[in-house]
Amino acid sequence: MTKGIELAPAKGKLGILLVGLGAVSTTTIAGVMAIRKGLAKPIGSLTQMGTVRLGKRTDGRSPTIREFVPLTELNDLVFGGWDIFEDNCYEAAKHAGVLEDKLLDLVKDELAAIKPMPAVFDRQYVKRLDGPNVKKGKNKKDLANQLIADIRNFKAKNNCDRVVMVWAGSTEVFMTEAPCHQTIEAFEKGLEASDPAIPSSMIYAYAAISEGIPYANAAPNLSGDIPAMLELAKKTGSPLTGNDMKTGQTLIKTIIAPGLKARLIGVEGWYSTNILGNRDGEVLDDPESFKTKEESKKSVLDHILQPELYPDLYNDLHHVVRINYYPPRGDNKEGWDNIDIFGWLGYKMQLKINFLCRDSILAAPIVLDVALFLDLAKRAKMSGIQEWLSFYFKSPMHAKGLYPEHDLFIQLMKLKNTLRYMRGEELITHLGREYYD
Ligand SMILES: NC(=O)c1ccc[n+]([C@@H]2O[C@H](COP(=O)([O-])OP(=O)(O)OC[C@H]3O[C@@H](n4cnc5c(N)ncnc54)[C@H](O)[C@@H]3O)[C@@H](O)[C@H]2O)c1
Repeated sequence: MTKGIELAPAKGKLGILLVGLGAVSTTTIAGVMAIRKGLAKPIGSLTQMGTVRLGKRTDGRSPTIREFVPLTELNDLVFGGWDIFEDNCYEAAKHAGVLEDKLLDLVKDELAAIKPMPAVFDRQYVKRLDGPNVKKGKNKKDLANQLIADIRNFKAKNNCDRVVMVWAGSTEVFMTEAPCHQTIEAFEKGLEASDPAIPSSMIYAYAAISEGIPYANAAPNLSGDIPAMLELAKKTGSPLTGNDMKTGQTLIKTIIAPGLKARLIGVEGWYSTNILGNRDGEVLDDPESFKTKEESKKSVLDHILQPELYPDLYNDLHHVVRINYYPPRGDNKEGWDNIDIFGWLGYKMQLKINFLCRDSILAAPIVLDVALFLDLAKRAKMSGIQEWLSFYFKSPMHAKGLYPEHDLFIQLMKLKNTLRYMRGEELITHLGREYYD
């Protein structure tokens, strides 16, 4: 056993600031409130229900993660956030239509008390939306300063010891790294000059990171994942994670694909199509926002299947991803995957998956876990990219020169080994010779 890392205790209140109080955020907040009241269980959340095996298989030690590392209790969480619409969290949750009225009414007062702060928003980056609750400023630096003031006020007003920020706003248009993203200095100049290469989500990321606050990007758009933010995070000690939560079809992809590869089954084609009818679907109906999502969804298979190592199995893979906006379905998405595979001697087979999923139900435990684990990372003085949180994302943040790890099972092992490492417990390699020697 090694010494482990010194972990500051989770004392006092933790503020979770959510950018965008839409389907994902309101399902998370209402869910936490319902769970706190004992009305429902935190299904899908590792921080609330997961366990971690310690020592040998014969030791019988598998504490829950929340007993093993000091996480903030749900009762000590305070929620806040920004949105371009003025609806309070109760109204926004009703509008999102994910949770039943019966449940929402049981937590109505707490939800209604959460009112969105005016947002930093520019239609240039989310073309299908417009709303009235938006800040005005002389340039993007001024807007960032207003966000910093919001964060400080929220923290003081709610008596929070610590704060984390999660971008759960709409998917912005596809962007690539620009010169103003390269250094803190260039970025700050870009803010002063309102450089168009700085979308709204980056202004939030900048505000959080310059305050030393952990920042997660739950969406696929380019936000905290640029050199300037990494440099800033190093300076201020902010842990970072993202991008694009792994829910729905991509979650299933990262469960099935490692299994096919493990058995060296070839894949000739993977056709994925979805219908969804929530506001996220409406935003993704814009080709520029869809491109951001498409890039994030498509990279997953290449990294898992490694065609460069297995050219006979995966070199000619046709991977197609479609998302269609179809209002009658609301948040209840339906996904179809047709997978053309081949086995021994090249004989062809097919696998069909029809997933009737609920996007925000799969996303809410991720938002909760990511917020709690980022706060833990901050208290462990682990700043910058948190690769151990790759488990939760479709396009995990990773250091330059490394390929991202997409295999869900390797990601889970990495996450649990990081927890063991923090506590000075032996890492588990699954070698298992000791049981036979
Ligand atoms: N639901 C999932 O399973 C899932 C999975 C992965 C990623 N995501 C991403 O998470 C994000 C949120 O998803 P959702 O289903 O809650 O969408 P949603 O449309 O219900 O909510 C997004 C909210 O963000 C607000 N918003 C947009 N720009 C903003 C800004 N600049 N500042 C403040 N608020 C802003 C919108 O007004 C809206 O209320 C989307 O980008 C989506 O692609 C969702």
